[in-house]
Amino acid sequence: MTARTEDGLRTTGLTRSFGGVRAVDGATVAFRNGEINALIGPNGSGKTTFFNCVTGMIRPDAGTVTYRGRAITGRPPHRIARAGIGRTFQLCRVFPRMTVLENMLVAVRRTRPRELLAGARDPRDVEKARRLLVRVGIDHLERVEAGNLSYGQQKLLELAAVLMGDPETVMLDEPAGGVNPALIGRIGALIRELNAEGTTFLVVEHNMDLVMSLSHHVVVFDRGRPIAEGPPDVVRNDPRVLEAYLGV
Ligand SMILES: Nc1ncnc2c1ncn2[C@@H]1O[C@H](COP(=O)(O)OP(=O)(O)O)[C@@H](O)[C@H]1O
Ligand SMILES: [Mg+2]
Repeated sequence: MTARTEDGLRTTGLTRSFGGVRAVDGATVAFRNGEINALIGPNGSGKTTFFNCVTGMIRPDAGTVTYRGRAITGRPPHRIARAGIGRTFQLCRVFPRMTVLENMLVAVRRTRPRELLAGARDPRDVEKARRLLVRVGIDHLERVEAGNLSYGQQKLLELAAVLMGDPETVMLDEPAGGVNPALIGRIGALIRELNAEGTTFLVVEHNMDLVMSLSHHVVVFDRGRPIAEGPPDVVRNDPRVLEAYLGV
């Protein structure tokens, strides 16, 4: 369990362009460990690219990323995961031809996919996987191929699979996007529970009711960098935020 005030993820001057587009443009931002942090902003404001730079999916052109004071800039994804950061994707990533339980077991990587399909299973991992599937409410689906789950169930599976790695910080890219209201409620409750147990969150989300009810701290991106931040009530009433969203 980490203290609320502890230094967590921090970027300085983070920059990444695609052709002529500066998707992330000199973003300097800090998130405290122990909190539920939200990253919001209009479509195309660079939120997913920011996530990709932080988690090693793409290399930044410039700037630094540190986590708990340690430089992690440009490290490959497995090294970022080992540093304690897990993530999900805006467009859910599960293995559609593997069962729900198999998806959980490949997430820990102690068992390689080939061995897994040949039947090798670490009983401790299976036990842990089942416990997490109960927690997200899809344990009754453990033998179902992931491709046959609803989109919302796939998102719950993706979250449960990330938790197999015991991340200290979880980054969620639009966890409620395309998910029905009942499952959105469950995802929100889960994030709150996990945070109460010590997990830090950084959540990109368009559902403002969810963001405002869940977050301790909200950072607003526009054109690749933060333009406002603070507690939900403050951000909600910030004229710069309205301007970014409405172009007024
Ligand atoms: N792989 C890519 N190739 C080219 N342009 C990209 C790529 N990824 C993102 N972009 C562009 O970068 C900008 C920011 O995109 P993105 O990070 O997806 O924003 P958000 O997640 O806030 O909607 C957009 O203009 C987008 O078109
Ligand atoms: Mg995005």
